[in-house]
Amino acid sequence: MSKEQDTSKLWGGRFSEATDAFVQRFTASVQFDQRMATEDITGSLAHADMLCRVGVLSASELAEIQQGLTQVQTEIDNGSFQWSIALEDVHMNIEARLTELIGVTGKKLHTGRSRNDQVATDIRLYLRSAIDRIAAELTRLQHGTIELAAQNTDTIMPGFTHLQTAQPVSFGHHLLAWNEMLQRDYGRLMDCRARLNQSPLGAAALAGTTYPIDREHTAAALGFDKPTENSLDSVSDRDFAIEFCAFAALLMTHLSRVSEELVLWTSVQFNFIELPDRFCTGSSIMPQKKNPDVPELVRGKVGRVNGNLVSLLTLMKSQPLAYNKDNQEDKEPLFDTVDTVVDSLRAFADMIPSIRAQKESMREAARRGFSTATDLADYLVGLGLPFRDAHEVVGKAVAHGVNSGLDLAEMDLATLQTFCADINADVFEVLTLEGSVAARDHLGGTAPAQVTAAAERALARLQER
Ligand code: ARG
Repeated sequence: MSKEQDTSKLWGGRFSEATDAFVQRFTASVQFDQRMATEDITGSLAHADMLCRVGVLSASELAEIQQGLTQVQTEIDNGSFQWSIALEDVHMNIEARLTELIGVTGKKLHTGRSRNDQVATDIRLYLRSAIDRIAAELTRLQHGTIELAAQNTDTIMPGFTHLQTAQPVSFGHHLLAWNEMLQRDYGRLMDCRARLNQSPLGAAALAGTTYPIDREHTAAALGFDKPTENSLDSVSDRDFAIEFCAFAALLMTHLSRVSEELVLWTSVQFNFIELPDRFCTGSSIMPQKKNPDVPELVRGKVGRVNGNLVSLLTLMKSQPLAYNKDNQEDKEPLFDTVDTVVDSLRAFADMIPSIRAQKESMREAARRGFSTATDLADYLVGLGLPFRDAHEVVGKAVAHGVNSGLDLAEMDLATLQTFCADINADVFEVLTLEGSVAARDHLGGTAPAQVTAAAERALARLQER
């Protein structure tokens, strides 16, 4: 600490007033890293407690430090703490205030550590609690999605490939497809948390420290699974931040896909769903407009999150061991990613359960698009036709439907028999939307009974968390 203070005094002495102010501002991180203040104090309390246990600090010194840091936390919480750019970062600001409050003992806190292991510890602690908040929000979103699916197992909509009507599907089945994406995101988040949850504290500047520190003790006190293995790696590793941003980029990509569908579906052209007014905004010029701003904004925010991932990858590329000041650039992309993900998930978790399915409209769209053509082909296969020939026959029937404006189910039996003489009256069972959907009755299929079972399994998975 004293060395670092001298260094900062040295800068003050060597530069002209104007340059000094600029360099101070340019190199400072306190403007953004003060958001890790609580984690910094938590880390310092664990470090001080350990120093006392190994005999580096006396019990009364520890008590002073604890009381001082508690006071600092109170000042930060109530907004009276004076953050100073001259003190560079969150670590030096807190330590300087501690020394102001308790005197010389404050200067002993930095024994056996460096800001390099300190900052690595703080980010891990910060990100770990952010991950826990995000996991809770993601679970809430999945819950809402699954509930909506369970209410819509037999709501029929057109399923699409190439955004062209393909086959009828259950709306619940579509919603559960979203849930599968989110389920994988949750798994990735937990993987990231598991690798993140190791304590770099004790690596000191890069090589460890000469004091008889107990790294197991600080690791356990801070809720880490264990200490990290290598001091050089500990102060330079930011893999966990990259992994988190990779998780976030994929999550936001999924939310952007959902957003895209919501935007399409709320248009009058689709009219598949309605979003409550509270998630939409109007136009200042066109009185009829009700714009799906929330999904549009989430769709747009994938850009900054992808950008943040690339920033961090590029930040770490070619960095020699061990700590480099470059690493101070990790925080803003990481914090921005956390904020974006938290807000986007919150918006979605609130919004998704409020979706109202426009069932008639979905049904009509499925009916209009010859969505049961494959079912007719499968029916013909049942009569003994090879699938390719059946495909050809149905293609002709569809062409007739396009010209005559009739859906397959609307053609009379005699008309259908002009395409294949063997067709019987039982064909109409497979041409209905309900028949088509119910026939896909296997694990992962869209039959309402399967969707109900899938929703139950999905809920059970949430309960295991
Ligand atoms: N503010 C710095 C960062 O964010 C803390 C570590 C600085 N260490 C150093 N030796 N200059 O990375």
